[in-house]
Amino acid sequence: MKKELDLRSEPSLAEAAKRSKTPFKINYDALIIPERLIAYCANKKYLIRTYGCQANVVDSENIKGILAKAGYSETENLEEADLIILNTCAIRENAEDKVFGEIGALKRLKKANNDLIIAIGGCMMQEPTIVKKIEKIYPQVDLVFGTHNIPSLLTLLDEVIFEKKRVIEVYSKEGEVFENLPIVRSSKVKASVNIQYGCDKFCTYCIVPYTRGKQRSRKKEDIIKECEELVALGYQEITLLGQNVNSYGKDLYEDYTFASLLEDVAKTNITRLRFMTSHPWDFTKEMFVVMSKYKNICPFIHLPIQSGSDDVLRRMGRRYTLESYKALVDELRRLIPNVGLSTDIIVGFPNETEEDFQKTLEAVEYCQYDSAFTFIYSPREGTPAARIKDTTPMEVKHERFDRLLKLVNEIGLKKYGECVGKVMEVLVEGTSKKDETLLTGYTDTMKLVNFHGNPNHIGKIVKVKITKGHLFYLSGEEVND
Ligand code: 5AD
Ligand code: SF4
Repeated sequence: MKKELDLRSEPSLAEAAKRSKTPFKINYDALIIPERLIAYCANKKYLIRTYGCQANVVDSENIKGILAKAGYSETENLEEADLIILNTCAIRENAEDKVFGEIGALKRLKKANNDLIIAIGGCMMQEPTIVKKIEKIYPQVDLVFGTHNIPSLLTLLDEVIFEKKRVIEVYSKEGEVFENLPIVRSSKVKASVNIQYGCDKFCTYCIVPYTRGKQRSRKKEDIIKECEELVALGYQEITLLGQNVNSYGKDLYEDYTFASLLEDVAKTNITRLRFMTSHPWDFTKEMFVVMSKYKNICPFIHLPIQSGSDDVLRRMGRRYTLESYKALVDELRRLIPNVGLSTDIIVGFPNETEEDFQKTLEAVEYCQYDSAFTFIYSPREGTPAARIKDTTPMEVKHERFDRLLKLVNEIGLKKYGECVGKVMEVLVEGTSKKDETLLTGYTDTMKLVNFHGNPNHIGKIVKVKITKGHLFYLSGEEVND
């Protein structure tokens, strides 16, 4: 039987692009748990699949917390699930293709069990064409919810379950910042803490400012309280998370910056402190100073360059030049000599020339990144770059991508090779997924290490002698002193 559609709100890119000056509200008590849902959930199970970036990982941790409040328990077995949630990513087309493949595959389960509920959330659901496509072609989907609608998840599920409706609720505009949402964290060793939501940079290729809304910083008190709680719970590592951590506070405070927050969180005495992602545009010297002053702030920065060509950077709306980027890297290495550095690079931005691309290769050679995430440009509907008529053929883009990857890998292999013979401190996160006899963790400079060691040391920082460097990971042996 076809279910009635309850179209509560659909996304609009035009709405999402608007930025108002009205201050956002902070909601400390947003969660509503419908009574009848609690009775229904007593022996119900959910499965959640998370795509994309760290912001989605934390959203999924909140979704798990919210579902647990209603009484759902988690399963990793598709056949056993009463509710399947996909938390999607919109950053590139291939991320979206994967999700459509998955939705298609779920049809079989729905046929076998008509009571199964399929819910889709995340950045993809903020795109009007995607929601329309799901509405029309994928009747197996019962609930579509946006990135701003997570706190209403239980109310929406209640309607799907008891009113037997298909529900779509996607707000285009961010309303509030939600505090105190329940959370089930995936690790007991390291945690990510959102410090801001959204992004106002509007790089011309990027969909994030539309899917995640305007920049909203959390209040420093709320962030510090959350970090103190994590320290008290025994967490060893905190990553402060935002699309643009460097612009933290600009929407909230006159003179409290990301450097101030970093310093205050470092003072909670968390063993390791990281942050992600930094935009070269707002980087201040104060931040380097704080980083070099506190031993618990990890000497590692992810600093997306995107391109080495000033012309492409200008067309991307990045607001820095290759020269200023290099100066930042030089300053960083001067103040924090052993700093680990990684980056993001887009190949094949519309009408990128061979000369532009050569500049990207030169920049990579200059910066000697420990690792780099490389992507072929993917047009995102609604963004300014997607409207540019692009004359660079796809084969050329692929061929450039391969050349870039070769260089990135050569440098990576060299950098990881340089670690051999050194004794490095590793925070042990658990056993390796590929080989249960090995422990696994990261150095403070964010290098993955798989090593032979004492499993009782999971959750602790140990010394590891590095025996071999591979492409983006190290092998070693724990040393006892
Ligand atoms: N096409 C390709 N890569 C993109 N990124 C963001 N938008 C796009 C796009 N449209 C990359 C950028 C960013 C990273 C998270 O994803 O490099 O830093
Ligand atoms: Fe996208 Fe640019 Fe914002 Fe990063 S800074 S999320 S690339 S718009």
